[in-house]
Amino acid sequence: MSVQTSPNFAERLLGWYDRAARDLPWRIPPGSDAVPDPYRVWMAEIMLQQTTVAAVAGYFRRFVERWPTVADLAAADDADVMAAWAGLGYYARARNLLACARTVVAGHGGAFPDTEEGLRALPGVGDYTAAAVAAIAFGRPSVVVDANIERVIARHRLIETPLPAAKREIRAALAPLVPQGRPGDFAQGLMDLGATICTPRAPACGICPVRTDCRARGRADIERLPVKPPKKAKPQRYGVAWWIERDGALWLVRRPGKGMLGGMRALPGGDWTDAAPPESGLVHVDHGFTHFDLRLTLVARESALAAGEGEWWPLSALDAAGLPTLYRKLTDRMRERIA
Ligand code: ADE
Repeated sequence: MSVQTSPNFAERLLGWYDRAARDLPWRIPPGSDAVPDPYRVWMAEIMLQQTTVAAVAGYFRRFVERWPTVADLAAADDADVMAAWAGLGYYARARNLLACARTVVAGHGGAFPDTEEGLRALPGVGDYTAAAVAAIAFGRPSVVVDANIERVIARHRLIETPLPAAKREIRAALAPLVPQGRPGDFAQGLMDLGATICTPRAPACGICPVRTDCRARGRADIERLPVKPPKKAKPQRYGVAWWIERDGALWLVRRPGKGMLGGMRALPGGDWTDAAPPESGLVHVDHGFTHFDLRLTLVARESALAAGEGEWWPLSALDAAGLPTLYRKLTDRMRERIA
């Protein structure tokens, strides 16, 4: 019979988190007796999907300052929220953010559901976000797995199955480690460990709080874990955007609600296709989306083409239009050219 004398995984991780937790704007620091605000926790988790902590921090502060409660956000104009989101990418998240805020207000009396299952029923809240909000905002011992946590557990348990098949093993390995007390700090501790010590390259194993029983420690190939699936080549697509200028103003439209950059302000133009356009254009930008690369070419067009729904936007105030990064890069390049 073995007697466990050393602190268990969660105790070691939480002890480290108490000393080393990152100071993040949505976070209640360990040891504080402040009560987490589910609205802020949810907002941060939505913003952090596919996006780095560094990119999110400023957006998070601006959003909660402008819309301090879920009721404020639910009452916001769609256009204001989409413009405030501009630059964060994955714009379906912003549409879902609004839809979710409105559901919480109209369907739940303004209070977020406090279980993983209830959260998962909200627009834009998937398995990961439901688990993270349940743990961080409501203290539920849910199994939270993001990319950082995946890496920590795949290494600690030496899981050599490639992703995405490894996900099931990683969850199964993590589930028994989740403590009943402080599950939110436990999840965030694992995220911080993955972000600062168990990094993709050159992990700092010598100072890791869970190094003693890490099965990958000391292996020359630790960076290989978790094993990634083979990379698929991304298709190349092409598009044309129109620069329609009149009296110091530019014609802007709104992209259709569904699809790429849905609901965002944009330059008008044609569909994106697999064939390069015949026009060489004034300037172009290359932009990588998740599933394809896009070359967008800017061509000048007559103001007679400024038809249908759209607005003349003063060129001097273009920064306030809330253009997504793709169009922002294109207009910046064009303005350099005409400056
Ligand atoms: N990434 C996703 N959620 C996070 C959180 N709550 N803290 C730190 N990094 C995160």
